[in-house]
Amino acid sequence: MAFQVEGKYALITGGASGLGLLYAKELLRNGLKGVTLADMSEEFGEKALKEIEEEFGPDRAIFVKTDVVDYQQFDNAYQKTVEKFRNVDILINNAGILNDAVWEKQIAININGTIHGILLGLEKYFPKYKQGTEALIVNISSTAGLQGYGHVPVYCATKHAVIGMGRGWSDPFLYERTKVRFITVCPGVTLTPLIFDMGGRNMGGIYEEFLQKNGEKWVSQEPDHMAKEMVNIIKNASNGTIWVVEGGDPAYEYIPAERRGVLSKK
Ligand SMILES: NC(=O)c1ccc[n+]([C@@H]2O[C@H](COP(=O)([O-])OP(=O)(O)OC[C@H]3O[C@@H](n4cnc5c(N)ncnc54)[C@H](O)[C@@H]3O)[C@@H](O)[C@H]2O)c1
Repeated sequence: MAFQVEGKYALITGGASGLGLLYAKELLRNGLKGVTLADMSEEFGEKALKEIEEEFGPDRAIFVKTDVVDYQQFDNAYQKTVEKFRNVDILINNAGILNDAVWEKQIAININGTIHGILLGLEKYFPKYKQGTEALIVNISSTAGLQGYGHVPVYCATKHAVIGMGRGWSDPFLYERTKVRFITVCPGVTLTPLIFDMGGRNMGGIYEEFLQKNGEKWVSQEPDHMAKEMVNIIKNASNGTIWVVEGGDPAYEYIPAERRGVLSKK
């Protein structure tokens, strides 16, 4: 069943720049009523609010300075959302970094940050503040969640973890009780600051060597394409599905391989 975007409110982490901001704008173009941009960067936040006001008019967006690693700050972002808009229906867990040189921090942002958003949504905010029968959580993984990239194994690990969260939390047993639809989206290489100047954002040595040898080969896509596909996915994807958008092509569903083992014999 389709998910209706019109009239809904969204919280987007890492929403002040890059893909997160483009998701916000594209959702507003598709009838979203209001959006919270929860991001570390006040500078990006102020600029983003101006851009949104110019295109969509006043009162459609707020910025809340948020480090997703800090549970209280994430809670505050939800709290400010419901104070401003009275509702929250969609969470896009988009904040993320690509930098194996600070791998512990990267794990904290990409994994713990995503889990914070899920727990707060499920336990505290969606039951009370969603408008329809269902809320929606979109977790942003990556093609690095489906394959290895030799320059950033820890980044790959974090994005595989995000895939695992979507698979676990979308279990029909949980869904029946939470009424929160989980979708996982895996962008391929997309032209945002995340992938500019990737040199040095690894553990050096063989990892840097891998990047220098392979970096040029990856086919990239425009961020606007990614944002348009994201909105299609949000409107149409069913609970538990995983979507890939890469190389400027239309989104396609990724179906994990069947495995032979004890579970499949039951
Ligand atoms: N660009 C790509 O090629 C690509 C590919 C696959 C997946 N992704 C994923 O998409 C998401 C967005 O990436 P992007 O390309 O827009 O990156 P970006 O670097 O352009 O933007 C990331 C945004 O997240 C914010 N942010 C960083 N750490 C934060 C924190 N701790 N708390 C809150 N906000 C924080 C930054 O301030 C920035 O506004 C990331 O999760 C990334 O891993 C990107």
